[in-house]
Amino acid sequence: MKDTILLAYSGGLDTSVLVKWLQEKYDVDLITVILDVGQQNDLKEIEEKAKSLGVKKHYSIDAKEEFATNHVFPAIKANALYEGKYPLSTALARPLIASKIVEIAEKEGATTVAHGCTGKGNDQVRFDVTIKALAPNLKVMAPVREWGLTRDEEMKFAKANGIQISCLSNPYSIDQNLWGRSIECGPLENPEQEPPEEVFEWTVPPEKAPDKPEYLTIKFEYGVPCAMNGENLHPVTLIQTLNKIAGEHGVGRIDHMEDRLVGIKSREVYECPAATVLLEAHKDLEKMVLTRHEVLFKQQIDAQWTFLVYTGLWMDPLREDLEAFIDKTQECVCGEVKVKLYKGGVQLVGRSSPMSLYDLNLATYDIQTNFNQSYSEGFIELWGLPTRVSNILKTKTKKT
Ligand code: ARG
Repeated sequence: MKDTILLAYSGGLDTSVLVKWLQEKYDVDLITVILDVGQQNDLKEIEEKAKSLGVKKHYSIDAKEEFATNHVFPAIKANALYEGKYPLSTALARPLIASKIVEIAEKEGATTVAHGCTGKGNDQVRFDVTIKALAPNLKVMAPVREWGLTRDEEMKFAKANGIQISCLSNPYSIDQNLWGRSIECGPLENPEQEPPEEVFEWTVPPEKAPDKPEYLTIKFEYGVPCAMNGENLHPVTLIQTLNKIAGEHGVGRIDHMEDRLVGIKSREVYECPAATVLLEAHKDLEKMVLTRHEVLFKQQIDAQWTFLVYTGLWMDPLREDLEAFIDKTQECVCGEVKVKLYKGGVQLVGRSSPMSLYDLNLATYDIQTNFNQSYSEGFIELWGLPTRVSNILKTKTKKT
């Protein structure tokens, strides 16, 4: 019996070339797998393409709900923005794809799995680490890492082998899912140059966005969004709807100088309309319901969670340890946030929560309240004590 290799297939250039290359090089049965994580590609067409390339079997798995609930929602709870900018859209989907591949490999009795990542990016790390953590005996192949082919050479190989690629004339490498669109390569590699308009698909240029702002009310329950403008929505529908609405206002374009795990600085361009709105709204609501100490400490936990996920360590037990803390804090992150979308920007203009720690009676400057201002003088005396002591000493030593 022939060995079976399972390939994570996207229908794009790298993985299509990979099918032909694996067939040429090894006498094996090839099974391709694609996950629907909301990338909006025609999965039927991709299946036909895989079959036309001669694979033995093709799996197409709808993983949108699992992706939204088990990967995107934890990222919202963790306010996950890598280096303060990137909502981790690509990074969040990789461990899910890897885990499904392992599942199918086991079902099909495959000894080897392959993916189309290059040796320069983060995705290879995310796939390899997750697959090896879940199935230590499975062999992982990343032939693109060994080829050293340029994109141009790959295109030539594709043409020579009759591979139909709609992106043959497209210089960009694109990865899409519910949480965003990552665009790399071509003219984007010059960080001085503004991204050409043609790279954007989900957002209009802010200057062409409607002249009237649009208001949305987003409801959160236990740290995750559950309704918009009073209508309860399924996680996938909520994200998809918000991508559309915020995109129409030019919200979610991100141009980022990013530090990859392998040490390379790269210029990355993203379109993440829903992520941009939901992360802002969630962070704002947290500030209303968590204490100052919780807010400041959680920032460190959030940054650690984000770093783990970016760097491919989804399977490390630390992620769940951190989530235990994060989930505990989210018990009171319930309420509504009002956002205003206008010409590429999202502004938070209102928030309310049954768990609000805001006390008008304490905060107001208007009326006599039960905040006893006379205590402030003594408080300041002690708060500034160490600073005063140190400065008195400095003045003394300067004089002597
Ligand atoms: N820099 C991002 C990350 O590491 C996006 C990678 C996008 N991948 C792609 N094939 N275009 O998560």
